[in-house]
Amino acid sequence: MSPWSQSDFYLRLDDLAFLFDLKTDKIKKELSSLQIETVSGQGKTHVKPEGVRRYLEHKGFKYQSQVISFQMLKGGVSKTTSCLNIGLRAAMYGFRVLFMDLDQQANLSFALGVDDLEVPVFINVLEKKISMQNAVIPIVEEQIGLLPSNLNNSVIERVLLNGTKNLGRVVKAPLEEVQGSYDLILIDTSPSLSALNTAVTCASDLVILPINPDKFTLFGAQKHLADLDQIREDFDLDLEIKLLFTKYDGREAASEAYFNQCLELFGNKMIRSFVRQTTEIKNTIASGKTIYDSKGNAKSDYDRVSRDILGIW
Ligand SMILES: Nc1ncnc2c1ncn2[C@@H]1O[C@H](COP(=O)(O)OP(=O)(O)OP(=O)(O)O)[C@@H](O)[C@H]1O
Ligand SMILES: [Mg+2]
Repeated sequence: MSPWSQSDFYLRLDDLAFLFDLKTDKIKKELSSLQIETVSGQGKTHVKPEGVRRYLEHKGFKYQSQVISFQMLKGGVSKTTSCLNIGLRAAMYGFRVLFMDLDQQANLSFALGVDDLEVPVFINVLEKKISMQNAVIPIVEEQIGLLPSNLNNSVIERVLLNGTKNLGRVVKAPLEEVQGSYDLILIDTSPSLSALNTAVTCASDLVILPINPDKFTLFGAQKHLADLDQIREDFDLDLEIKLLFTKYDGREAASEAYFNQCLELFGNKMIRSFVRQTTEIKNTIASGKTIYDSKGNAKSDYDRVSRDILGIW
C-alpha cells in the first residue's frame, strides 16, 4: 500500500558530514571504524537510519520520546507540510516516528500514500472498535507508522461534545498504548479550536503553531495561543508551545517585517529558523519523493527546523 521504500529514508552521507563539519572521507572512515554500513549507488552514498542512530548516539545524542502536535485555527498555514517533512527528516535521523492524522481532510494520509475510506481511523479507536496498535499502518516497517484519517472522523466532534469522555485522556490514553514503539509522535490537526484539538493538546509535550507573513495568521496565532494557555491552566499541563514561521518570501519586504514583528510579539516562543516559500513542496508531494532528495531551499529549511526542534546539533 505504501509508495515508500526503506531506501527513501536513508540519510545522505554528505548531509551527515555537514552536520559535524567533517569531510566525507573522514566521516566514512569513522563510520567504518564503528562498523556502521554505508550504501552506495547512482553516485551517492547513504547511511541507513539505524546507522545514523548509532552514530548520533556515539556522539552523545539521546533519543527522547516526545509528542508534538501541529495546530493553528487558521487554515492553509503549513501544518500538514511541516508535520510531514519534520517527521520524514526525523526518520532519516534514526527516530522511530508515528504520524497521527487527526484532520478529517486527511491531507497527511494522502501525502503518505493512504487514501482509503475503509481503513480504521481515530473514531474507531475512540469507540473501542480497534486498538490503537492495530489501527496503525506501517509505512516503513519498525520505523514509520501512520494512524490515518478520512471523512469517517467527521463525527468525532459530536461524540466528544455529547458524551462524557475526559478530554484529558481521549488522545493521551491511546497514545500510551503505542508510545514504547516510537520516539516521536507527530499529530496533524484540523484548523480549529475543536474539542478534539483540546484533547490533542492534553496529549502533547510540544505544540507547534505554523505562522505565515499575513495579518490574519498573526491574529489567528494570538487567539490560538490564548486558547492553549487556557487549556494548559484548565488541565494543569506541562506544555511547551513554539511558533514556526513558514512561507517566508525573501523578495517581499513584508515577510521580513512580519518575521520581526513575530519575534517582538512572541519572543522566545519563536523558532529562530524559518521555512521559505518554495514551489518544491507541492512538486515533491505530486512526485511521491521527499524534499530531501533534492538540494533546494525546502530541504535546507526543513532540515534546519527539524534539527532545531529535535535538538540535533
Ligand atoms: N513553504 C512553502 N512554500 C510554498 N508552498 C507551501 C509551503 N508550505 C506549504 N505550502 C503549500 O500551502 C498549502 C497549504 O499547506 P498545508 O496543507 O501544509 O497547510 P495546513 O495548515 O495543513 O492546511 P489546512 O488548514 O487546510 O490543514 C499547500 O498547498 C502546500 O503545498
Ligand atoms: Mg493540513
